[in-house]
Amino acid sequence: MTVFGTRPEAIKMAPLIKELEKNDLIQPIVCVTAQHREMLDMVLNLFNIIPDYDLNIMEHGQTIVDITNRVISGVDKVIKKERPDMVLVHGDTTTTFAAALAAFYNKVQVGHVEAGLRSGNIYSPYPEEMNRKLTGTIANLHFAPTVGNKENLLREGVEEKRIIVTGNTVIDALLYVVKKEYKFNDKILDGIDFENKKVILLTTHRRENWGQPMVNIFEAVKEIVLHNQDVEVIFPMHRNPKIRELAKERLGNVGRIYLIEPLDYEPFVNLINKCYLVMTDSGGIQEEAPSLGKPVLVLRTETERPEAVKAGTVKVVGVKKEVIVQMINQLLTDKETYEKMANAVNPYGDGQASKRILNALLKYFSN
Ligand code: UD1
Ligand code: UDP
Repeated sequence: MTVFGTRPEAIKMAPLIKELEKNDLIQPIVCVTAQHREMLDMVLNLFNIIPDYDLNIMEHGQTIVDITNRVISGVDKVIKKERPDMVLVHGDTTTTFAAALAAFYNKVQVGHVEAGLRSGNIYSPYPEEMNRKLTGTIANLHFAPTVGNKENLLREGVEEKRIIVTGNTVIDALLYVVKKEYKFNDKILDGIDFENKKVILLTTHRRENWGQPMVNIFEAVKEIVLHNQDVEVIFPMHRNPKIRELAKERLGNVGRIYLIEPLDYEPFVNLINKCYLVMTDSGGIQEEAPSLGKPVLVLRTETERPEAVKAGTVKVVGVKKEVIVQMINQLLTDKETYEKMANAVNPYGDGQASKRILNALLKYFSN
């Protein structure tokens, strides 16, 4: 039984669900918590996934305690009814940890997809670093995207035989949707001259960035746009009202900055493919943009995804306005720096991660 609740979990679980559905030995059950509602449904529609259970827990202004409570009690009921052989959770959200805990309380085994990422700081990203550590403690099987992730788990005492290096299923999903000649079906995006303008794609939503850091990010972007006539910024705003209100207040009336609704996964990935550079605090986008050869400036002080930093595509720039402005300016004017970062590298897999997870599950249960 797969359990997930937010946009990134859905994107990264979708290719695995498709693999599970294809195999005769597996009887897949899909349970969504709907910690996100609209942003989850966009992904379910795209991949044509009809959940067997939908806990529909999202409330505006929900706290992590609210989410934890609702997920544990909701998933507990589904597990008691279905008695799955294994619960598969993904990554590091509160749905992930709470669903793993509900499985453990029912003595049901847990497989952790995207296991072993660590920033080394339990307060950044918060609460994700703790969510993934706790999920890792509960899990019976760990599907680690990279060798580095496996090493993190070994250091924490996880038995080697329980860790399978698979690549990240986000690459499986990406290959499913990215297209060479993509046309957006969107007034704003279709009106943008991607050939002659330098288009910056911005996303930000992390809890650590709420408040002053996000103000710094928005002010940096504003300064760049005001001083560079050829720059346009697209910000598909996360649905969290805290972020939308601040974005509208700071960037709402600035020319060449487009505040738009969250995009479906397909147009979003194709937008990464067409833009000049990406500024983000998102986890998933740090994995996708490198494989599309786009420089990424990470709006955080650390990352649990050092592979793309090592490869040169991703730079962690922090959340100080002056530093962000300086880094963007460098990428706008210094061709050599830009070209160095715009190398397509793919440390996160070959698009076969879901197949490896399926094979590992079959082997585990046949033993
Ligand atoms: C959550 C995860 C975070 C993940 C992120 C991906 C936790 C604690 N946080 O953060 O790890 O990186 O999702 O985006 O698990 N909302 C809607 N519609 C939606 C989605 C959200 O209206 O489809 C609004 C609601 O008002 C909701 C708020 O956004 O209360 C916050 O959602 P929540 O899931 O609590 O936190 P995120 O910041 O989205
Ligand atoms: N994404 C999307 N539409 C958008 C913005 C992002 O489909 O408007 C996708 C993006 O390609 C990536 C995932 O959502 O796969 C990242 O989700 P998010 O940034 O919400 O969460 P994180 O990865 O930081 O946990």
